[in-house]
Amino acid sequence: MIRTGAGTLAAGSAGERVKLQGWVHRRRDLGGLTFLQVRDRSGVVQVVVRPEDHPEAAAALESVRLEWVVEVEGEVAAREPEAVNSEMATGEIEVIAERAEVLARAEPLPFLPDTPVEEVAEETRLRYRYLDLRRNDLQRNLILRDRITLEILNYFNEHRFVHVETPILTRSTPEGARDYLVPSRVHPGSFYALPQSPQIFKQILMVSGFERYVQIARCFRDEDLRADRQPEFTQVDLEMSFVTEEDIFSIIEGLFERIFPIVGIEAQAPFPRMTYREAMLKYGNDKPDLRLDLEIRDVSEGLAESGFRAFQQTLGAGGVVRGFAIPDGASASRKQVDAWVEIARSRGAMGVLTLRNRDGELEFQVKNVLSDDELARMAAALGLEEGGIGVVVAAQPSIAAAALGELRLAIGAEFDLIRRDENRFLWVTEFPLVERASENERWNSVNHPFTSPMLEDLGLLEGEPGAVRARAYDVILNGVELGGGSIRIHDSALQKRVFGLLGMTDEEAKDRFGFLLEALTYGAPPHGGIALGLDRIVMLMTGARSLRDVIAFPKTTSATSLMTSAPAPVDREQLHELGLEIAARRREPADSDEG
Ligand code: AMO
Repeated sequence: MIRTGAGTLAAGSAGERVKLQGWVHRRRDLGGLTFLQVRDRSGVVQVVVRPEDHPEAAAALESVRLEWVVEVEGEVAAREPEAVNSEMATGEIEVIAERAEVLARAEPLPFLPDTPVEEVAEETRLRYRYLDLRRNDLQRNLILRDRITLEILNYFNEHRFVHVETPILTRSTPEGARDYLVPSRVHPGSFYALPQSPQIFKQILMVSGFERYVQIARCFRDEDLRADRQPEFTQVDLEMSFVTEEDIFSIIEGLFERIFPIVGIEAQAPFPRMTYREAMLKYGNDKPDLRLDLEIRDVSEGLAESGFRAFQQTLGAGGVVRGFAIPDGASASRKQVDAWVEIARSRGAMGVLTLRNRDGELEFQVKNVLSDDELARMAAALGLEEGGIGVVVAAQPSIAAAALGELRLAIGAEFDLIRRDENRFLWVTEFPLVERASENERWNSVNHPFTSPMLEDLGLLEGEPGAVRARAYDVILNGVELGGGSIRIHDSALQKRVFGLLGMTDEEAKDRFGFLLEALTYGAPPHGGIALGLDRIVMLMTGARSLRDVIAFPKTTSATSLMTSAPAPVDREQLHELGLEIAARRREPADSDEG
């Protein structure tokens, strides 16, 4: 007899004979009858065991406990009207057990698939990941992930992309984050690196003439982890030849228009675009969440001559006075404002200043330092209306942006101003090509060293590198960076100039990326691409709060697997064979519980 999925049964199945195979989800004994719920991947159905009618089946099931694996054959029967369970998808019917068998017993479990997550320690869930994966929502997430991945591959296939696998054992890639190294047994003292992305390989594939490449690519980065970062994660990685930014935008917009509706999210193309500069000025952030208004405005005008020293000094030293208005915030408490001050300080600002509009009266936090005119101008610049409060920061531009960006998000959440029913896609463009921690320090790529500068800024490359804009772009959804990419340098002379700017000597550049530089000399087409974070996309599509909930076997915030206990020490012999010796054991880093 063929197996039937428990969750596929419905009112219309009454009268059918079926064979179920699955796990005992619940058990209830009631006046000589036993009710079991049997669960498989398709769902749950109630099984009734009647010892009087079917003594053998009853005997076989008598001692079954939760999560035992059973096989039950019997007839589907409509439930009595009063026994219908409208909360259960199969609640109109039940299966009468006529023959049954235990396929596997189970020890008492550390937790059950429907034990609320709040009642199980996170470590226990991760240690028994296979049990946690019996949860309905985790199964649903992974099954949805599968569906999204398939749709993505179909989409790119229809658009003539070739899926190519690139090496996992490779050498350092240029993403700037840290590499995981793998020692070579055959070449003692030499190491492979796990790829942080397939960046160089996909560019080489363009030189080879593939024109359109895609890969569902596993990437590895030894960086500090957060709820939206994992040490190994998956990119939807693509590269195209003979393209400009517009071609990349439209291929990604088409993809999102195809996949997001799977979960009822509309992705209306074309997505709005914003330059990095505008994003930093208006939102203090390079991945603005457009579901939140609270736009940052400049209020500096006319304040340099004001009687308020803090403003005078900041503006005199090249700083800015900027802020935003919170509608209906005028009655914010002292405690609330203190918390904002802390946020601003954590970003290097001195604090925040407030300007309240109570019934048309303007009240600046510091009394008697600004004239009525100055207050009125500030209120107008902020767009401050009656009943609102303005939050202002006086600082150097980058500090003001960082502080206000952080405040905007915190206050938006605090006042519940984020329109959570909206979905706002956005392209951020024209990122700076390079940045540096402070003057006198080395320039680093903002993206990676193969990103093309904007041609109109080429003249600034040597004289004013910090002002050079890159042909780089990120795609954002609701304040989350879903992906990033760029048009690449396809000219080896320009590539060498950029390496030079990054402080790499010709020798170093040749040593690390010689094969790419050389490849670029053998007829490289203009090309560009992007990589999307598949885990993040699935996280947003499923509404999961952490990447852990969309990855089958995730790692903790200290990059360990509590199930397999990786990473783990290896024995001396193995080390010896690899030509390695451990100098000193490092202290175990503690897990911080951030998502
Ligand atoms: P980038 O480093 O911006 O670009 O990565 C692209 C996207 O990958 C996702 N991502 C991550 N997801 C989970 N955990 C992580 N630790 C993690 N790090 C990155 C993000 C990000 O937007 N080679 C370039 C792409 C290119 O230029 O084509 C690259 O890797 O969603």
